[in-house]
Amino acid sequence: MVKILHDKDADLKVLKGKTVAVIGYGSQGSAQALCMRDSGVNVIIGETKMLNKVPNKSWQRAVADKFKVMPISEAAEKADIVQILLPDEWHGPVYANEIKKHMKKGKTLCCSHGFNIVFKQIVPPKDVDVIMVAPKSPATEERKAYLAGFGVPGLIAVRQNPSRNAKKVALAMAKAMGFTKAGCLECTFEQETYEDLFGEQTVLCGGLVELMKAGFEVLIEAGYPPEMAYFECVHEMKLIVDLIYEGGIQKMNAIISNTAEWGEYAVGPKIITPAVKASMKKALKEVENGEFAKKWLKESRGGAKTLLAKRLALGKHPIEVTGRKIRAMFENK
Ligand code: NAI
Ligand code: MG
Repeated sequence: MVKILHDKDADLKVLKGKTVAVIGYGSQGSAQALCMRDSGVNVIIGETKMLNKVPNKSWQRAVADKFKVMPISEAAEKADIVQILLPDEWHGPVYANEIKKHMKKGKTLCCSHGFNIVFKQIVPPKDVDVIMVAPKSPATEERKAYLAGFGVPGLIAVRQNPSRNAKKVALAMAKAMGFTKAGCLECTFEQETYEDLFGEQTVLCGGLVELMKAGFEVLIEAGYPPEMAYFECVHEMKLIVDLIYEGGIQKMNAIISNTAEWGEYAVGPKIITPAVKASMKKALKEVENGEFAKKWLKESRGGAKTLLAKRLALGKHPIEVTGRKIRAMFENK
């Protein structure tokens, strides 16, 4: 049984007098920097003024949010704790060019996803602390929960601990972002990285999207109106998941009809068959043996052409076309 850590287990004083450089003011960077600053932590932002030859909106946003914004290398030099919140596929090159030279003895390197440490895109010097502080949530929800006086759950991990203080720093950062209000688990870098990649591929993003698309396609191919299929297979998903979030599967089952509950038991396992579970096991293996990471980094270094083509194609899929139409209708009300 893992121990769940709460506010009482963490001490914000550990961060007193320390400067945290948040590198990358995107989804996570902005949410984490704002929460930490609101909790009294001294936060500076390391960003890139021009990105892909155009002015970087994230830089401008950080300035508008009244942070001290500076080039990544300068922020890494000034900071005691360097929290890298760039897209995972860019940590390696940016670390090598701008951060590495500033990772001097006594500093802390932090991230919110262990990908680059586990798959060795970053190999930090032995005399720096290496920690992870990761929300188990999308960034927007993290900030909303913090502003509501609560927080989302989080994970912490310690990889290198020459200062003997690394866990206290990780916990203090987790507290500053509200994670210890909801509850924080301590894990290893490998556990977080493998579990996170597996979850997003097979259940949360990959699995969910393909499930909804398959259901939607079956209905429209059988001649049902796309709007009805959308309500059924996509829109209602949130309402159902909200019930599970609030009270587990049994709460959802208690609220849906007996007919729906019976369908869940009788038909569900015929859809998510043992073959699906076998595919999930294969996906987990490819995450654990580095195969997935190798392919993704290759795709990204090659200009992410397949990713961009898939992104474009999805926008044209009837599920998205119908969704846009339905949301516009809601907004006109
Ligand atoms: P993001 O996609 O929002 O990008 C962050 C910023 O990095 C951008 O705003 C941009 O200014 C900068 N950037 C982009 N490409 C760059 C490049 N080539 N060179 C220099 N700077 C560049 O990143 P996101 O989604 O916030 O992810 C950051 C980290 O947080 C990742 O490690 C991710 O796994 C982790 N994470 C993200 C979550 C989320 O809700 N998005 C949830 C949990 C963890
Ligand atoms: Mg995830």
